[in-house]
Amino acid sequence: MNRLTTSWGELELARFPEDPRDPLRAWDAADEYLLRHLGTPTGSVVIVGDRWGALTTALAALDPAQISDSHLAQEATRANLKRNGAASARLLSTQDAPPERVDTLLIRVPKSLALLEDQLHRLAPALHPETVVVGAGMVKEIHTSTLRLFETIIGPTRTTLAEKKARLILARVDPALERPPNPWPLSYDLPEGIGPVSGRRVLNHAGVFCADRLDIGTRFFLRHLPATSGPVTVADLGCGNGVVGLSAALANPAADVLYLDESHQALASARANAGGAGRFVLGDGLSEVAPGSLDLVLNNPPFHTHQATTDRTAWRMFTGARRALRAGGELWVIGNRHLGYHVKLRRLFGNCEVAASDPKFVVLRAVKR
Ligand SMILES: C[S@@+](CC[C@H](N)C(=O)[O-])C[C@H]1O[C@@H](n2cnc3c(N)ncnc32)[C@H](O)[C@@H]1O
Repeated sequence: MNRLTTSWGELELARFPEDPRDPLRAWDAADEYLLRHLGTPTGSVVIVGDRWGALTTALAALDPAQISDSHLAQEATRANLKRNGAASARLLSTQDAPPERVDTLLIRVPKSLALLEDQLHRLAPALHPETVVVGAGMVKEIHTSTLRLFETIIGPTRTTLAEKKARLILARVDPALERPPNPWPLSYDLPEGIGPVSGRRVLNHAGVFCADRLDIGTRFFLRHLPATSGPVTVADLGCGNGVVGLSAALANPAADVLYLDESHQALASARANAGGAGRFVLGDGLSEVAPGSLDLVLNNPPFHTHQATTDRTAWRMFTGARRALRAGGELWVIGNRHLGYHVKLRRLFGNCEVAASDPKFVVLRAVKR
C-alpha cells in the first residue's frame, strides 16, 4: 500500500490482487503529471485505461466514467475507491457502449497501440470542439505512431515537456476531420498444420494477444496439445482469442471447455471464435473456478502485465491450476525455454516433464498427484 498526494487529497492505493510483498506502486509519474496538469474538469469526465484506478479514485468526486479492458484494473479501482471512502465511479469495459457525450477525456496510453486506436475511434463521436483531451504516458510508452493516432482520429496534437520521464499528449478535437475507418475487430485465417483449428477464420478485438497473426508459441502449442476423450472439463487459462480452447473443443466435442481471461476484449474474441459454445469466465486466473473441478488446464502464460515484466502472474496461474485440478488432472504449459517454468512447476506439483520442445519453446506437463 502506498500514499499518493494530489490536489484532490491524499490517497492510499494498492494494486490488485493486493500483495503486501508487492514493491510496485499503484500509480506512476504519468498519473501524477496528468493530475497536476488538470484544472478542475467539468461536465462528463471519462478516464480510459487507468492502470490501477489512481486517476479514477483521485477524481471520484467528479463522478467519472472509467473505461478499461482489464478486470484486474477494474477490481483495483473498486478496492481503491472503497479504501479511500470515495464516491463510486461508473466502471465500463471496452466492450460496453461508451458515454454519449464526453467533456473531458483522460487517456492513460495503453501498451497496445491497437487498443488505443479502437478506443479513440469508439469515443470520437462523443467528443465536441470544447472537449478537453489529455493523454498521459511514460516517455518510453509514447511513440510517433501514438501521436499519429490522436492526430488522425481526434485532431491537432502536441506533447508537453517530459517531467520525471512522463509526458502528456494534448489533442484538440477537429469536428471536420475525416477519420479513417476503425479497423477493429480484425479477422485473419489461421495457417494449416495446427490441428482442428487449421485454416479457420478468427476474429480479434483490439489489444488481444496475437490479434493480427498467430503467435509462434501458440502455433507450437496447438501442434502439441494433449488428446482428450469423453466428458472432460478443460480450461483455456489466459485464453486470448480462444484458439487453444477451441482446438480442444473441436478435437473432443464431449469436452466442457472454459475460456478464462482478465481481458474483456479477449473474452469477447474467444466467445465469437467459439460461436458462443463453452463457458466464458472473466477473472483473475482460475479464481472463479471451483477446487478439484478440472481435468486439464492449457496455459500460455503472460509475462508482461501492465508494462511490468514479471512471472508473478504465471506463478499465480500455476498455483491456481493446482488448486482447480482434480487429482490426476494435468496442467500443460507452453513457454519460451529461457523462462524456466519447469523449475516452478516441479516445485509446485512435485513433477514436470517436457511434452514437446524446439530450440525456442517447450511444452511442459505437470500432473496433480
Ligand atoms: C500469452 S497470452 C495467451 C493467449 C492465448 N491463450 C494464446 O496462446 O494465444 C496470455 C493471456 O493471459 C491473459 N491474462 C493476463 N493476466 C491474466 C490474469 N491475471 N488472469 C487471467 N488471464 C490473464 C492475457 O489477457 C492474455 O490473453
